[in-house]
Amino acid sequence: MTKYGKFIGVGVGPGDPSMLTLKAVDVLKKVDYIFEAVGKNSKESISSKIVSAIEGITAIKIPLVFSMSRSHSQRKEAWVKNALLVCDKLKDGKDVAFVTIGDPLIYSTYTYLMKEVLNIIADIKVETIPGITSFQYSASRKNMPIVEDEETLMLLPAWKEEIVNLDLVKKADTVVCLKTYRTRNAIIDILQNSGKNNLLYAQRVGLEDEKISNSLDEIKKTSVEYLSHLIGRKK
Ligand SMILES: C[S@@+](CC[C@H](N)C(=O)[O-])C[C@H]1O[C@@H](n2cnc3c(N)ncnc32)[C@H](O)[C@@H]1O
Repeated sequence: MTKYGKFIGVGVGPGDPSMLTLKAVDVLKKVDYIFEAVGKNSKESISSKIVSAIEGITAIKIPLVFSMSRSHSQRKEAWVKNALLVCDKLKDGKDVAFVTIGDPLIYSTYTYLMKEVLNIIADIKVETIPGITSFQYSASRKNMPIVEDEETLMLLPAWKEEIVNLDLVKKADTVVCLKTYRTRNAIIDILQNSGKNNLLYAQRVGLEDEKISNSLDEIKKTSVEYLSHLIGRKK
C-alpha cells in the first residue's frame, strides 16, 4: 500500500519571526519540503523571509507562483498546477508544508491549494497549524481590545468598496477590513460614518517599515499599500 506524506498548512504570523508559534517552528524543522507562494517576478515572499529566520531548517524550499487574476478559471488553473507539484512529493512519502502569512484559514491561498490536493489524493492526511493574524498583531501593538462582553466582530475583504457598505458595517461593534488598498480612504469614511470612532490603520506590521496609526485623517494623505488593514470599533 502506498504511504503518502502529510500535507501541512503552516501559518507563520504577520511578518515578525518572533510571532511564529513553537508548533510552526517544530513542523518546519521536520518536513521534507517547504512550498512558499512567491510573486511572478520574485524569488522571495514575506512568508519565505520569515521561514529564512528559523535556524535548523533542512527542508528543500520550493517557490510556487499563483495567479492573482480576477478570472476564477485562471486562478483555479494555478491551484491545480501547484497542487500537482505538491502531490508529487506526497506520493513519494515526503511530508510537505505550505507556509502562509498570518493564519492559513483566513483569506489564504492555502485553503484552495488544500482542496485541490485532496481532489488529487482524497485520503491524504492534512494538518493546519494556526498563525497569528495581522489584525491580532496590530491591535496588540496598540493594546486595543478587539471585542469585549457581548460585542460582535465582522471580518471583511475590503478590496471592493461595495463589500464595505454602511448598512453592513453598522451591524457589528468591531469591523476588521483586510485587503484595504485603493479603497482605503473611502473605507475610512464609511467606518467613521458608521460610528466606529476608535479606528486603527496598520500597514506592513511586523516588518521593518511597519506603520500603525490611530490618526486616520493623517493616514488618508499617505500612499496606499496592499499589505494593510483597518480596524474600526464603536468604543
Ligand atoms: C491574502 S490576505 C492574507 C491574510 C492572512 N492569512 C492573515 O491571517 O492575516 C492579505 C491581507 O492580509 C492583511 N495583512 C497580512 N499581513 C499583513 C501585514 N504584515 N501588515 C498589514 N496587513 C497585513 C492585509 O490586509 C492584506 O491585504
